Amino acid sequence: MSHTMRTNDGWEEAKNLVKERADLVEIVREHVDLKRSGFRYLGSCPFHQEKTPSFTVHPDQQFYHCFGCKASGDVFSFMMEYHQMDFREALKHLAQRYQVELPEKKRSAAEIEQERRRQQMFGLNSKATDFYHDYLLNHQDAAGARAYLAGRGIPLQTQKGYLLGYAPAVERAGWNFLGSRLSEDERSLAIEIGLLVSKEKNRNYDRFRDRILFPIYDSRGRVCGFGGRIVGEGEPKYLNSPESPIYNKSRMLFGLYQQRESIRRRRRAVLVEGNFDLLALVAKGVDLAVAPLGTALTREQLRLLKPLVDDVVLLFDGDEAGLKAAERSVPLFLAEQMSGRVALLPEGHDPDTYINEFGAAGLTKALDAAGPLPEFVLQQFIDRHGLTLDGKFRIIEELRPLVGAAASPVQRDTMVRHFGAVLGIDTDRLAAELVPGNEARPGPPVEAQHPPKTSRQSGLDGALRSIVGFMVKNPNHFERLLDYGIDAVLAGTAGEMICLQLKSLVREKKATTLDPEELFSELPPGEERALVASILTEVSLDDDAQDNGPDTMLEDVLQWLNRQNLKLRSEELMRRIREAEEEQNGTLLKELLQEKMKVDGDLKNG
Ligand code: GTP
Ligand code: MN
Repeated sequence: MSHTMRTNDGWEEAKNLVKERADLVEIVREHVDLKRSGFRYLGSCPFHQEKTPSFTVHPDQQFYHCFGCKASGDVFSFMMEYHQMDFREALKHLAQRYQVELPEKKRSAAEIEQERRRQQMFGLNSKATDFYHDYLLNHQDAAGARAYLAGRGIPLQTQKGYLLGYAPAVERAGWNFLGSRLSEDERSLAIEIGLLVSKEKNRNYDRFRDRILFPIYDSRGRVCGFGGRIVGEGEPKYLNSPESPIYNKSRMLFGLYQQRESIRRRRRAVLVEGNFDLLALVAKGVDLAVAPLGTALTREQLRLLKPLVDDVVLLFDGDEAGLKAAERSVPLFLAEQMSGRVALLPEGHDPDTYINEFGAAGLTKALDAAGPLPEFVLQQFIDRHGLTLDGKFRIIEELRPLVGAAASPVQRDTMVRHFGAVLGIDTDRLAAELVPGNEARPGPPVEAQHPPKTSRQSGLDGALRSIVGFMVKNPNHFERLLDYGIDAVLAGTAGEMICLQLKSLVREKKATTLDPEELFSELPPGEERALVASILTEVSLDDDAQDNGPDTMLEDVLQWLNRQNLKLRSEELMRRIREAEEEQNGTLLKELLQEKMKVDGDLKNG
């Protein structure tokens, strides 16, 4: 993960020094119970709720990765995400802790001034938010706006929760509603963030007049800008804050600040297009929606959601524009390796009208029925062009940019295979058509081209190594292996990480369709990847054993796992027996001894 800083070298140096000195394991340990696992540490993920630990910290590479929610990053991102800090705060915090001096004094006067102005801008927006909110709730001139909101089903509670405002028509508010409430200094800032529009020297007027205002918050709850909707019919329907030093539309999502926690809890976000769609959902208790700020979805916006969700459901109007918007978002999802789904509403409906007609239950049904984004888009292409020969040519043209956006060769291969199957085109031929450089079949993974590491270097020996090899090469048997407690047997070894990754993959798709190569490309870089690469490239004795049939092999593996688990159980019982002896707990001791006899008996007979 790279963090670009617009500051001078002194900061870059400090950042590198902090990275060198900081110990991610130590930092994470303060918040997460970590235990050693092979080359890694393992604990329960602080970024999502889980029953079994799948959050890993990699001491050598100094990064973390969660196999459950895919959160990952370095010491800076951990601080930022866990403590809700921005990068500079995280750096300051860590610098202090690890005695790294920050080039505080080297900051130029201009930079200090700029920072001071930014703070004032936030302050000003907050002040304006209060003025406008108060006006909406209390002023007689806002009766029309209040009636409008009520008519659209936005209850007072939601208006308050989102600090909605009303900017009065200036002629009814003394021509200079906001301007007259600001000081000289504030006025020049207000022009910069677009609250006031400057006409000529010393003559400004309010940007927002006779509009309902939606304050837009950043991740720390600071108001960066406003969306302003006309009350009733009129043009333009929306007038929004311009971009400013504190407002970048492509990096923010309306509603994310308010709904962040429920989105994180449910691991799902619903993307809607309009501010009113969002409020309509909130008003009905669906608190998972976010909306871009009047522009097409961006990759930065998806990244804001990435650590919080397993998938994003696009909830778009069932019209041509909605379809196009869904299509345009596919490359973004692919590039971020995020899963997107599409819930298309019936023609003539948007999320707002839909939830008002069918209620939260109706909407939830539509969300649950949402299909995967790439499949959805392919279906659109088929509907549009048909499956004639000419139609297929056109579809291939439409698919080209999508396949080009794939984040990895494996992802690309998966898409081509899927599209090929649906279109009835041979996979190799379609790949030749769609993949630049005609990589009809992906070559061997990069790491595999280096000499494979020996098992000793990979930290796994003998039987364990064979078991991991079998697990990697036969993902179709993975669930059986789990039933036989392979995770317990591999706990604490380098195989544990691979097992976790397989679990995460199997959760996403059927084990029978899983490709070992996919496991390889999904694993975070490091020792386990090298191990998988060497397993996948070696010609092993196991392959000869295939003559005896893979099923015989599976039986052997299961039997071995069974024994290992019995041994583990026996050791565990021994520990507890000692404890019971120390505590002189006779009843417990008797029970434990009986159980141990049974387990040891099974071991002897097995
Ligand atoms: P309603 O028609 O009141 O339901 O509005 P809406 O909030 O549902 O918005 P709509 O679906 O029409 O448009 C989606 C988003 O695009 C809005 O929330 C705005 O952010 C933006 N938008 C819509 N119309 C305009 C416009 O005229 N100018 C600008 N700058 N943005 C607009
Ligand atoms: Mn709408």
